[in-house]
Amino acid sequence: MTDDRERWALILGASSGMGEATALTLAANGYRIAGVHLDFRAALGHVEEIKAKIADLGSEALYFNMNAADDEKRAGALAAIRERFDRSAAEGRTPYIRVVMHSLAFGSLVPFLSEDPKAGVDRKKMEMTQDVMANSLVYWVQDLWRGGFLAPGSKIYAMTSEGSTRVVPSYGVVSSAKAALESHTRQLAMELARLGTGVTANTIRAGVTVTPALMKIPERDAIIEAATRRNPTGRMTTPQDVANTILALSGEGTEFISGEVIGVDGGEYITGS
Ligand SMILES: NC(=O)c1ccc[n+]([C@@H]2O[C@H](COP(=O)([O-])OP(=O)(O)OC[C@H]3O[C@@H](n4cnc5c(N)ncnc54)[C@H](O)[C@@H]3O)[C@@H](O)[C@H]2O)c1
Repeated sequence: MTDDRERWALILGASSGMGEATALTLAANGYRIAGVHLDFRAALGHVEEIKAKIADLGSEALYFNMNAADDEKRAGALAAIRERFDRSAAEGRTPYIRVVMHSLAFGSLVPFLSEDPKAGVDRKKMEMTQDVMANSLVYWVQDLWRGGFLAPGSKIYAMTSEGSTRVVPSYGVVSSAKAALESHTRQLAMELARLGTGVTANTIRAGVTVTPALMKIPERDAIIEAATRRNPTGRMTTPQDVANTILALSGEGTEFISGEVIGVDGGEYITGS
């Protein structure tokens, strides 16, 4: 079946790691890219490089430097995307967001129990991490669905990790956000199906991958050592592995895959400790 609509990917976390690799891969395969990221001065040069690469691939990059968990900012970004879609529609094309990827890494890496209250989790850290890494997916999808940005064939992906079901000393807050994110994605998958939208939602469970987010985890050296030892392929997962999977899963014939947690790790998870 051919799809002659104008395909867009909305990538939350499009300036680094898995989101960056997926933006570039989808851009190379006919998608236009709307990217949301949160970067400060030192990192902005890299964002400009990504946008230039997307343009060199013959695609288009609409990037927003903002907190993806801010309701007003989300409304502003969606208004800008709407304006861009209106221009395409005026030229006789049918734009829609085929891929939504939630790839935000922003969490407190602290234990629950700490003698020094400042060094442990508190309500603000807990709620901010949950809001960015889990709940924001729901609010984006609500607005995308209500706003008519999604259409039959659209695919939603959220990024989880083995940490949703395992414990690491500093990862408790993120771990709980990952468990919630998986649950949110299942719920969205079910509601989108019952509404007859033709939109699917799945969680991608990537293996341990060297990115800026991983390097912020205090236990990173032990995590990298264990992943390298356990992974039966003899190497760790890369952002490109995730990007290739999202491209393939977003092709034709995958509309009955929904509500799943899909491992992209070369068998790292099943190999155990
Ligand atoms: N790296 C790993 O080993 C690994 C494994 C499994 C799952 N994951 C998950 O994959 C996702 C992507 O991780 P990554 O390793 O590619 O991270 P990364 O640090 O390379 O990229 C994170 C992206 O999120 C953006 N971001 C962070 N907070 C934001 C906010 N509040 N608003 C808007 N943008 C924000 C950053 O600007 C960046 O573009 C995360 O959800 C992470 O938990 C990572």
